Amino acid sequence: MSETIQPQIQQIANPEFAFNRIITGDARNVLPKLPPGSVDLSFWSPPYYVGKSYERHLDFEDWQSLVRDVIQCHVPVIRPGGFLAINIGDILCFTDPDIPRFQANNLRGKKISITKNQILEAKKLNPGASRQELGRLLGCSEQTIQRRMQDNNVRGGKQNYSTKVMLTGYLLAQWAEEDGFYLYDQRIWHKDPCWANSRWHSNSYRAVDEFEHVFIFWKPGITEYDRDRLNPDEWAEWGSRGVWNIPSIRKNDRHEAEFPETLAERVIRLFSPHRGVVIDPFVGTGTTTSVAKRLGRQWLGIDIEPRYTEIAKRRTHDT
Ligand SMILES: C[S@@+](CC[C@H](N)C(=O)[O-])C[C@H]1O[C@@H](n2cnc3c(N)ncnc32)[C@H](O)[C@@H]1O
Repeated sequence: MSETIQPQIQQIANPEFAFNRIITGDARNVLPKLPPGSVDLSFWSPPYYVGKSYERHLDFEDWQSLVRDVIQCHVPVIRPGGFLAINIGDILCFTDPDIPRFQANNLRGKKISITKNQILEAKKLNPGASRQELGRLLGCSEQTIQRRMQDNNVRGGKQNYSTKVMLTGYLLAQWAEEDGFYLYDQRIWHKDPCWANSRWHSNSYRAVDEFEHVFIFWKPGITEYDRDRLNPDEWAEWGSRGVWNIPSIRKNDRHEAEFPETLAERVIRLFSPHRGVVIDPFVGTGTTTSVAKRLGRQWLGIDIEPRYTEIAKRRTHDT
């Protein structure tokens, strides 16, 4: 197990604690400072443990204790009747040398010969071209462009290692329930097909890429509910629907795992009252906080990476 930051989950709440700001720090150190019962909704998306650059320091044990500890840190701060909403792809994908490598026999035998150098050349000639456009220019898929450029093949079967895919929702439900939260609801966030432009004829495609979950946990207490929070069309179109079709952020310039504003807007409108307090302890680029502010909520964002909190500050204060 790699070296971890030891959490300090003692409550050291500061009654003068000010909301409406972005804090750089470990969520496990900042959350205990919040006044008890001060938060109506905490909406967040933790690192997914899929090999992104901001989570490379984690191993599976670390990942579990991070998420578990952050859930536990919410026990005192969520108001009775309040919610904890966690967005996560219900998979963990990571390299596991102990499982068999997926083996496929490509009956067509067609190999894509595009090299990284050819892509770099095409980029030079077409500055600003997207992966999709480069793929069209070079006669290959967007996925090939990405793989060649980033060696990022966590889902594929062509690397020297095997990819483990695991469900996570049950872990969150178990940890939350141990802490006195109850699974109240679940929405499926159906993204656009990730590789919509690809010519998929391969088993290295996995449909799990196309959707994520929002698990909504409730802290027992009275939840004040105002049906007028959504108009009748909104209730019909998404408020009462289990599957939300929301395109993902295709151009991840700011962050590798930014979620779309529409996702945050729906969760905030459904699960927090006007002027309520909405927090995000893994705020990244400030999607939750900027939407919360726009919707007239109080807000707080925490992220361990200064490069993200700088973006979150700019984005939220400019809202
Ligand atoms: C999936 S991303 C969140 C992206 C965000 N929802 C957005 O729209 O930009 C997870 C974030 O958690 C942050 N993070 C990882 N460990 C953390 C910790 N212990 N405390 C606070 N933030 C952490 C990472 O820096 C990363 O920005």
